[in-house]
Amino acid sequence: MDLILFGPPGAGKGTQSKFLVDRLGIPQISTGDMMRAERKSGSALGKKFDEYMTQGLLVPDSLVIELLRNRLVQADAKGGAIFDGYPRTVDQAKALDAMLAEMGRRIEKVIALEVPTEAIVDRISGRRSCEACGQVYHVSYNPPPSTGRCGNCGSDRIVQRDDDREEKVRTRNAVYLENTLPILAHYGDKGIVAKVDGTGAVEDVTRRIESILGK
Ligand code: AP5
Ligand code: ZN
Repeated sequence: MDLILFGPPGAGKGTQSKFLVDRLGIPQISTGDMMRAERKSGSALGKKFDEYMTQGLLVPDSLVIELLRNRLVQADAKGGAIFDGYPRTVDQAKALDAMLAEMGRRIEKVIALEVPTEAIVDRISGRRSCEACGQVYHVSYNPPPSTGRCGNCGSDRIVQRDDDREEKVRTRNAVYLENTLPILAHYGDKGIVAKVDGTGAVEDVTRRIESILGK
């Protein structure tokens, strides 16, 4: 199955993806995580991503679509994927539809997480991420282990993302409203968009998503 986890920055897409990977047995494809890994490697492509990501702006479609194309042909993504943070523009959505169609696949569901702005600000300002494996924590709602090491991979590099500062978050939100939200109308026409209340405990949100997926 191919599904998109959709929502504004900080809505909980990454958090919920991690649970769905286990339940559905398909990988999470997060373009944000892939780009952060590329930046960390210090490659020329990573430096290009830097220019946009540190400002909270979208990386140009041509670069993102290429990144996704290379990821989609990897063996673990043959049976479907959870798309997290992709697509971000209607053109990216159309490119994804075309790539999947070539493989005889299509997006079956778009799960749109709805979270009010006040909660988003609180979630993003308290977020901490493991630089090594991408595991997401929150200082209050899901604190990292008291050892200071990542519970998933053992790394001691649990940091605040450079685009999680208040001013960058405002830019990311504006970009979301202008460029990303129109994607819902693109998929809405196909009748596959399911809006999900993204507030409350992480497990409650997971249960709401599972009930929509019939799992
Ligand atoms: P990306 O990494 O995709 O970031 P994003 O979409 O802004 O989403 P976030 O990672 O901020 O939030 P999330 O919804 O995953 O929430 P999370 O689960 O972490 O993109 C970053 C940048 O990369 C972009 O700005 C752009 O520059 C570039 N980029 C990436 N993809 C691109 C593309 N396709 N095209 C162009 N550019 C692209 O949760 C947030 C916090 O809340 C965490 O601390 C978590 O612990 C907590 N939390 C989650 N759920 C709950 C809950 N139910 N209750 C309490 N706390 C919760
Ligand atoms: Zn880790």
